[in-house]
Amino acid sequence: MTAILVAGGAGYVGSHTVVKLLEKNQKVIIADDFSHSNLAVISAIQAITGQSVKSYRADLTQLEEVKKIFDENEISGVINLAGYKSVGESSQMPLHYYRNNLEIMLNLLTVMEEYDVYRLVFSSSATVYGNPKELPVKESAQRKPTNTYGRTKVMIEQILQDLAESDSRWRFISLRFFNPLGAHKSSNLGEDPNGLPNNLAPYITQVAIGKLPKLQIYGHDFPTPDGTSVRDYLHIDDLAAGHVAAMNNLLDSQDETSRFEAINLGSGKGYSVLEILQAFEEAIGKKIPFDYTEKRLGDTAESFASIEKAKRVLDWVPTYTIEEMCQDTWHWQLKHPNGYDNE
Ligand code: WQD
Repeated sequence: MTAILVAGGAGYVGSHTVVKLLEKNQKVIIADDFSHSNLAVISAIQAITGQSVKSYRADLTQLEEVKKIFDENEISGVINLAGYKSVGESSQMPLHYYRNNLEIMLNLLTVMEEYDVYRLVFSSSATVYGNPKELPVKESAQRKPTNTYGRTKVMIEQILQDLAESDSRWRFISLRFFNPLGAHKSSNLGEDPNGLPNNLAPYITQVAIGKLPKLQIYGHDFPTPDGTSVRDYLHIDDLAAGHVAAMNNLLDSQDETSRFEAINLGSGKGYSVLEILQAFEEAIGKKIPFDYTEKRLGDTAESFASIEKAKRVLDWVPTYTIEEMCQDTWHWQLKHPNGYDNE
């Protein structure tokens, strides 16, 4: 039985995607450098699914390490979630981000071609849109990223488009996901940021367990109903299901399908920071202290997705409510106050 290679498969999105693939009896290979994840994720995946999963600790910026994986396994398709993803850090270390994110993809494509593997799902991001002019954001919107992280995503999408244009054997889907939230129902997989959380949800839950004193809300005078910025939050399980649906679409695709598709994954609704905070306070059962501070550089006022194409092409729709997203996030944080450390 051929396998799906999940590059970055030990990460937050990757691990939930691997569980979904295994639950559909798909053979999976994980490749991860574990720089932003933990070996405990592998045991959690195996405990949840009751299946073993072959994993490689690999630096995918090294061509030889990618070749070894293809040499030792029969791979039918690749889901690439491997890459650095901190917006703030990317602006401080652009060369680090360009080298890592682009080299990983270039190595995967080079070796895929050598082994006649032409199906790849790319985990892109809503950051490719920058400050959207029209809402909801459609896939046809201009890609104008405002940070290095977003620019690595646009450059990689361009590489895939050029490759698809040059050789009809390739099929790509680039999933532009908005703001992932939540955790696996078992509360044994979840978001485990290194150091101080950049993202809103882990920051809130770390305040709730007393690891951080209070939340800083970045800006209170945006042109939004309550003045705080609005984002499109999506349950990690729905996001994982979207990756599986995209991979299956490519593996079943016949020659007449298009060779490169970009597809948004989001809830199609926008929630403000204060609305998310309130949903968490209801899930946690207590008030979360916060201060309003300056806006964060690069933050847009409002962004939420048009998800019509995901429904049409992948027959994919989001299934979780914002309350479930906050509850699942909170249950993960309660059960694993230090994430995967000390596991
Ligand atoms: C959400 C909202 C902040 C933290 C980024 C990437 C995106 C995706 C998700 C990877 C914003 C506000 C946040 C805090 C706050 N990642 N906020 N206080 O910036 O929308 O998206 O992460 O693909 O690509 O761009 O997510 O969670 O950082 O912020 O007020 O301590 O919460 O202003 O409105 P963001 P976020």
